[in-house]
Amino acid sequence: MQAIVMTETGAPEVLVPRAVDAPRPGDGQVLVRAEAIPVLYPETKVRAGEFPVPVALPAVFGFQAAGTVTELGAGVDPALLGTRVVAATSGVGAYAELVVAEADSVTVIPDGLRTDLAAATQMPGSVALALVATAALAPGETVLVEAAATGVGSALTQLCAARGVRVIATAGGAEKARLAREHGAAEVVDHTAPAWADQLRDLLAGGTVDVVFDSIGGDSVTPLLDLITPRTGRVLSYGWLAGVPTQLTAVDLILRGLTLTGCAGPAWLGEVARRRADALDAAARGQLTVGIDSVLPLTGAADAHRKLEERSALGTVLLRP
Ligand SMILES: NC(=O)c1ccc[n+]([C@@H]2O[C@H](COP(=O)([O-])OP(=O)(O)OC[C@H]3O[C@@H](n4cnc5c(N)ncnc54)[C@H](OP(=O)(O)O)[C@@H]3O)[C@@H](O)[C@H]2O)c1
Repeated sequence: MQAIVMTETGAPEVLVPRAVDAPRPGDGQVLVRAEAIPVLYPETKVRAGEFPVPVALPAVFGFQAAGTVTELGAGVDPALLGTRVVAATSGVGAYAELVVAEADSVTVIPDGLRTDLAAATQMPGSVALALVATAALAPGETVLVEAAATGVGSALTQLCAARGVRVIATAGGAEKARLAREHGAAEVVDHTAPAWADQLRDLLAGGTVDVVFDSIGGDSVTPLLDLITPRTGRVLSYGWLAGVPTQLTAVDLILRGLTLTGCAGPAWLGEVARRRADALDAAARGQLTVGIDSVLPLTGAADAHRKLEERSALGTVLLRP
């Protein structure tokens, strides 16, 4: 079968199309014929060697694939055979025609939801649902969603807007600002502009932000500290697009009575995994729409990674074997 093998850590060129032996499901596993493989932002970090590589290299790359279950290992519920699922791997094997995954890592795609939309929605939708639950939003609150045009930010914007809170989004450039508004942001500031915190201060006109969903990390929240509601304001740190997590210090928080919640690591990812089915259900009911930027052939995996790194994707990039 055709697959994308990661030969070593490095630039997108380390993702190489190769013919490899088809995998077989072991006990408790399923085999999925992949139809839509989402290219995930964190995967670019694994490929680059900035996040831990879960297996020895070379190995078939990839974390998630959506398609149809074609074979079952011993001990798996026979009802899964022939169903459409989104499968999560342990970080290996998803960029391929045939993907093996633990049966308890697959989420059945609800009737009425297209396989490609399920592939695009599962990761951002489940992360956003976990973040919104953690934020414990109250009526009348104002939230700031960083990088709201695509991915987790777009799902967060939709979920928060549906709860009736005021969403102020950040996005880079006019096209992404338009997308953030389409997702439900009431106002958008351009996080590529210098001193964008001043734009936010003007928008707030003396008010404050109750929750910051921080995907950029680095120094992005530091200039906002005095725009966050003292005593009850919450910062949820779930990404570090800037290269490092938020650099807020204990003193920054203590002096203002703010809470910083870390939304990463194994326990957090367990919380996210428990919301996968809810994310697909929300998409099937039309309550969550994660856009598809493009569908590339499987052999275009390196191009897909470049697209994400150039920040040019306007939605999820999918690979189709
Ligand atoms: N903790 C978790 O459970 C979890 C799960 C999934 C993802 N994440 C993390 O969340 C973050 C967003 O992931 P995503 O899947 O939602 O990705 P995404 O939507 O594709 O986010 C990438 C976008 O972020 C914007 N951005 C802002 N500052 C950036 C910077 N310094 N470098 C690159 N892009 C920047 C860019 O849009 P503009 O053109 O608008 O600037 C870019 O297109 C990533 O850090 C990812 O690792 C965390």
